[in-house]
Amino acid sequence: MIFSKEALTGEHILISGGCGALGLAIVKKLVECGARITVNDVLSAEIAHERLAESDIPAEVVTYFQADTTSPAQVKSLLDHAEQVFGFVTTGLCHVGMVVSGSILNFDADTFDEVMAVNVRSAFLLAKEVSQRAIAAKRAAHLIFTTSWVAVIPWPEIGPYITSKAAMNQLMRTFARELAPHGIRANAIAPGIVGAGMALRQWNTQPDYRARATKAIPLGYLQPTESVADTFVFLCSPAASYMTGSILTVDGGASLYPMD
Ligand SMILES: NC(=O)c1ccc[n+]([C@@H]2O[C@H](COP(=O)([O-])OP(=O)(O)OC[C@H]3O[C@@H](n4cnc5c(N)ncnc54)[C@H](O)[C@@H]3O)[C@@H](O)[C@H]2O)c1
Repeated sequence: MIFSKEALTGEHILISGGCGALGLAIVKKLVECGARITVNDVLSAEIAHERLAESDIPAEVVTYFQADTTSPAQVKSLLDHAEQVFGFVTTGLCHVGMVVSGSILNFDADTFDEVMAVNVRSAFLLAKEVSQRAIAAKRAAHLIFTTSWVAVIPWPEIGPYITSKAAMNQLMRTFARELAPHGIRANAIAPGIVGAGMALRQWNTQPDYRARATKAIPLGYLQPTESVADTFVFLCSPAASYMTGSILTVDGGASLYPMD
């Protein structure tokens, strides 16, 4: 999809976990539409810059900051860095996520906690930090949470992940409900089974997953990464300015019916 090159002019968007497969595609599209981006990941700056360069993302409109988003102190440092380089953060993308596969009875407590921390705790800390700074500055801001179609579908063998994505949807609705009077909006995007990143790793390594996923998508093909990036452009743009508390599902129909 071709959007105007000015669609996001003036926006400073911060993305957590932005050096993963979806993150890089999103960053690329957002900068093509005129945004400046603070990219966060746990990766070293050297590896992150390599990945950004490989994706042809122009260095002058992007700044990278290494931080573990489960740490409140590191999230504060991330926002300090972002504001120092590009000023006020207009949109925070609570995007970082991880998945671990296994039957629900085989998960130990530490793995469950880790998935909830990386997915839910990170989203909470980033959304809170962006919001507090927006309220202090008396400015509007937008929070976008990357959740998933499986937040409402009990897709087998990723129990902690789907639980975390359901929690993120409700976390998003809490931010939307409580902070609307401050001009802070919150929305979620729920992608389907994307032919990139964590889903592609499962597709390539787990025959059971691949068999299920093949049957699960009514449109009949893995979700193009571009369709996720396009949805982010829409949500970050003024075209979505009356949206708050919404979950935008973009999943090729995967959530329409049980797949087994
Ligand atoms: N790929 C899919 O099919 C799909 C579908 C629906 C939703 N999603 C969601 O999209 C998001 C990105 O998925 P992806 O497929 O690009 O994953 P990915 O594994 O390719 O990227 C995740 C990135 O997060 C980083 N990261 C991990 N822990 C971190 C931490 N504590 N602090 C900062 N960064 C950290 C990793 O280094 C990695 O670069 C996730 O929230 C995921 O749940 C993906």
